[in-house]
Parts: sequence; structure tokens; C-alpha cells
Amino acid sequence: MEKEKYYITTPIYYPSANFHIGHCYTTIISDAIARYKRLCGYDVFYLTGTDEHGQKIQKKAEEVGVTPQQYVDEIVENAKDLWKSLKISYDKFIRTTDEEHVKCVQKIFEKLYDKGDIYKGEYKGLYCTPCESFWTENQLVDGKCPDCGREVNMVTEEAYFFRLSKYQDRLIKYYDDNPHFIEPESRKNEMINNFIKPGLEDLCVSRTSFDWGIPVTFDDKHVVYVWIDALSNYISALGYLSDDDSLYKKYWPANLHIVGKEIVRFHTIIWPIMLMALDLPLPKMVFGHGWLVIDGGKISKSLGNYKDPREYIDSYGVDAVRYFVLREVPFGSDGNFSEEALINRTNGDLANILGNLVNRTIGMINKYFDGIVEDTSIKEDIDNSLINETLELKDKVNKYMDSLEVSKALEAIFDLLRSCNKYIDETTPWVLVKDESKHDRLKTVLYNLVETIRIATVLLQAYLPDTAESIFRQLNTNITGYDSISTFGKYKSGTKVNSPEVLFKRIEKEK
Ligand code: MSP
Repeated sequence: MEKEKYYITTPIYYPSANFHIGHCYTTIISDAIARYKRLCGYDVFYLTGTDEHGQKIQKKAEEVGVTPQQYVDEIVENAKDLWKSLKISYDKFIRTTDEEHVKCVQKIFEKLYDKGDIYKGEYKGLYCTPCESFWTENQLVDGKCPDCGREVNMVTEEAYFFRLSKYQDRLIKYYDDNPHFIEPESRKNEMINNFIKPGLEDLCVSRTSFDWGIPVTFDDKHVVYVWIDALSNYISALGYLSDDDSLYKKYWPANLHIVGKEIVRFHTIIWPIMLMALDLPLPKMVFGHGWLVIDGGKISKSLGNYKDPREYIDSYGVDAVRYFVLREVPFGSDGNFSEEALINRTNGDLANILGNLVNRTIGMINKYFDGIVEDTSIKEDIDNSLINETLELKDKVNKYMDSLEVSKALEAIFDLLRSCNKYIDETTPWVLVKDESKHDRLKTVLYNLVETIRIATVLLQAYLPDTAESIFRQLNTNITGYDSISTFGKYKSGTKVNSPEVLFKRIEKEK
């Protein structure tokens, strides 16, 4: 049977040499969802990449005395390197300077122009260069850019406009007919009340004041506005309007665009209207996640309040960083980041609950039975209650992942691991071992622990891939598929476990 497809995207990142832990949130959460869907048997396509055009990049390149292309070529490697360190399992990395993307955007612009949805006019407005955004007087906060708080400049230029206003009613109807198009719900209300109800104005979609952008084919003193360029990546990456559009036919529409809350409006207003104007289907969902913040405020280069995420990976391990980010930010809200909180999570959940459980279990099996795990099949009430809890895990995690409550999915897995530690304390293997007649009972206890750890680890593969690999190696099992966790007892009785590996060292606070 053909697998069901699942297309998930992150936003494409502005190339930067200064990524912080907050930047990693979008890719890590998308990665966990992509891995989870693959585990469940979907044919997943996970896209990320870089957003490389615009005045900001041109200025930076000028500052360091290289061409914009040279500047982005070098700096893009930084993103790729960071995603590699974080084990991001993307299927494609798109760059907006890729030739196929450039051609696709040009064709999209032509199509919209030919249709009359893009027209020529004159733009007069207040422009924020760092955010590449135009604002009206009313939108400014204390006369400054409402997004970044910096100065805006009055700019007048000949420009092309996109008829957003024409599609306003259709967009509202689409929101109504597709109640899950924008998640969480609060973001939808924000879009309607702050942007759509006041009335959508046509959008200026070309610039003449700089040239680091995609040229408009029929009027080449204009370059395409970066957001039109950038949003198109979700279909250009699949070969839309190219000679080979097989990926487009297979994967579009996207099942999920994951984006930070500050760019929800581009993805839920401009992007769907572009698609409507192109007569293309709309993505099924745009999820606007919250931010990682420091002391309730922005993580920012100018405040100097962060380190390169690779430093945390070097100190605490990649899965400690992944776990923190996934566990700490509740569904849609902000989560606070501090190195101390990262250490607390690593010590509390990863070292004490998970690491300790696996270590104790493998250690006891090696010590008591020379590493052999045997199931005697005689179950007591206390076993059945652990087994029932274990068998409920799959559905619980599935329910949370369906609603993108990744933090809760992890919480459910760790609740089960906690129950295992309690099970050890209550069944007291160190007492059973002293009485030969209780050795069968002891074998059952250890088998139940191994099988529960295995089942939890099958699911953990989505979130903590290295850790899951190490646990499977220690358990010496290759029964790691999603189908293997609907029944209890798939771990082969008679298997010899391997020697223990340290999963997470407890971190001393001074560090
Ligand atoms: N280039 C645009 C997106 C174009 S998509 C067609 C962009 N790039 S970005 O580099 O500024 O942001 C990339 C992602 O990082 C966004 O999802 C953004 O929300 C996320 N984050 C940046 N800082 C963040 C935090 N402090 N916390 C969580 N995510 C944040 O926007």
C-alpha cells in the first residue's frame, strides 16, 4: 500500500553567523514532528533553507567588502552546520538564490501580473530596513517599527502592487471553512482583529531602491519583494512550474507550515492569497509557535545574552538541547531559556529519570543473570498496571502529536519512565535476588522493565534520536518499529543485553 504523504516546512532562515537557541526551536520542533510522522509510516518531506535576498544582506555584504552572493555562500554553511549538529533530518535545504527558485518566483510574478492581480503604481510609505517591512503611520509604535522598535524612513518609489484587498472575503471564508488552518486559535483571532478586519490594503511587491533580489522579468529595474520571493520557496522547492514537478504533484499542499509567532501574518494572509491567485490549493495548517525568551524578553545579539547553541551541545549533548527546547515551550506559548533551566531539565528528567532507569535496569540484568533477559510470563497486579500504562502510551503520544502538543507528548513518555522507577522501588529486585525461589519473579520484573523501556524508546526516537539509538544498543534489540508497540512482549526473551552506556551525566551547577 502506498504511504500517505506528509509535507512539513520550517520558515527559511535569514543567513546569520549568530544563531541562538531560539532560532533552533522552529527546526527542532519540526524535526521532532517529521521524525514522528516517519515513525508512524508516513512518506515525509521536510523542508528548510535560507532566505538570502534583500537590502539587509546587500548592506552587510558591502560592509565586509564582498558581493552579496559571496556573503551568503559563506554564511549559509553556518546554518547547515548548526542543523547537522542538532541532527535535523530535513529532506531538502532550499536557498532562495538557487536557480530553480529564482526562475519559479519570476514565473509566479509574471502569472500574477498577467492575471491582473499584480499592477504598477507608486509607493509612498514608511519602511523599516532591518525588517524589510512597510508600515502605515497608525501601525507605528512611538513613531518606530512595531516589530523591532527601530527607526523607519519615508520612501517614495514606483512599484508593483499585489491585490490583497480583492481576496479579503475569500480569505475570511477560508478561515471559517477550515477552523484548523491557523493554530493555535489565539493567533487566528489576532490575524482577524489586527489585520483583516481593519481592511487589507494592496501590498507593495517590488523594490527599486536596491538590486539584491530576484529581478522582475518584464521590468528589470525592479526586484521582487523578499516576502513574495521567500514564501514561494514552499512550492519552488518541489519543482512547481519547472520541467520536473513530480515532487510538487506528490507533496503539495503542505500538511504543516511551522512558523514563529511573529511571522504568522505573512503565512496566513499573504501566502494563502498568493496561492488563491495562482489557483493552487492552500496548506492544511499554519502553526505559530511561541518564542524562547530570556527573563521574559528577547534573546538578542545586542543584549549579548546568549551563546552559540553549539556550545550547549558540546557541554551537555545534542539530546539535552533538543529535549530542553521541546519540553520547555508549552503549546503555542513562550518558554523561558536559561542555562540553569537547561541543566535542571538535563539532571532532573534525562539523568535522574531516563538515564538512571536504563542504567539500573541494564546493570541488574548483567549482575543478576549474566545479561540474559527472560520472560517467565507470570504476571502480578503490579505488573499488569505497568503493562497497561505502557500500552496506553502510544495513543496518548499520538493524541498530543496530532494537536502539536509536543511538550505534553514528552511529558507522557517521562511519566511512564517515572512509573518504571517506582516499579523498581516497589518490586525491590535487590531483595528478590537474595532468595533463589524468587528468581523467576525477578526475571519477570526485569523483563517488564526492558520491554517498557523499549516501547518508550521507540517513541523517543522522534525526539532524542541519539539517546534512542544508545538504548536500543544497550538492550541489544532491533525491534524498534512503531508497529511493535501495540502489544506488550515483543522484546525477545533470551536476549543478552550489552554493557551499559552512560546516557546523561549529572551536570554540576558550577559548570
Ligand atoms: N526569513 C524569514 C522567514 C521567511 S519564511 C518564508 C525569517 N527568518 S528568521 O531567521 O528571522 O527566523 C527563522 C525562525 O526562527 C522563525 O520561525 C522565527 O520565529 C524563529 N525564531 C527566531 N527567534 C526565536 C526565538 N527566540 N524563539 C523561538 N523561535 C524564534 O523570519
